[in-house]
Amino acid sequence: MTPEEMAEIHARCFTAQRPWSADEFSALRAGTHVFACVRERGFALGRAIAGEAELLTIAVSPEFQGRGIGRELLESFEEAARRRGALRAFLEVCAANHPAIALYRACGYAEAGRRAGYYRDRDGKRADAILMHKQLA
Ligand SMILES: CC(C)(COP(=O)(O)OP(=O)(O)OC[C@H]1O[C@@H](n2cnc3c(N)ncnc32)[C@H](O)[C@@H]1OP(=O)(O)O)[C@@H](O)C(=O)NCCC(=O)NCCS
Repeated sequence: MTPEEMAEIHARCFTAQRPWSADEFSALRAGTHVFACVRERGFALGRAIAGEAELLTIAVSPEFQGRGIGRELLESFEEAARRRGALRAFLEVCAANHPAIALYRACGYAEAGRRAGYYRDRDGKRADAILMHKQLA
């Protein structure tokens, strides 16, 4: 999947926050510890360093959501992270993002902490960031 395709899916998924540009996806993917997991209309980006993996983003085109693609991508992220020696995975999610939180909980992630008012949407409304983690090994 090209950086342009990632940016297009990302922009359609994240309407409340500023979407990431194709240049930003290019720069991220050039990082040595960064890896991508891809399905036809969705992708996940992860980074694994020193035994820990971070889910940088995950997105499925709105018209393809609810068909199990997000779960597949999250599982691929975890497999790829394990292959890179990660023992633990973590991620950050907006407290208002109920579908994503439901996905992470269903896949075994637990809340590890919160950053109060961390996210601000285009209308200036603030929401907490929830940090979640999962033991991979
Ligand atoms: C979060 C996201 C990746 C989920 O992808 P998806 O392909 O729709 O998810 P799946 O169909 O694989 O669902 C897997 C599980 O997640 C949960 N889930 C997913 N969408 C849900 C929703 N709208 N409401 C409640 N639970 C939901 C369910 O537990 C579901 O399991 P079930 O179908 O057996 O009930 C997708 O909604 C998305 O791209 N959202 C916009 C981008 C985003 O918010 N990314 C996360 C940023 S941290």
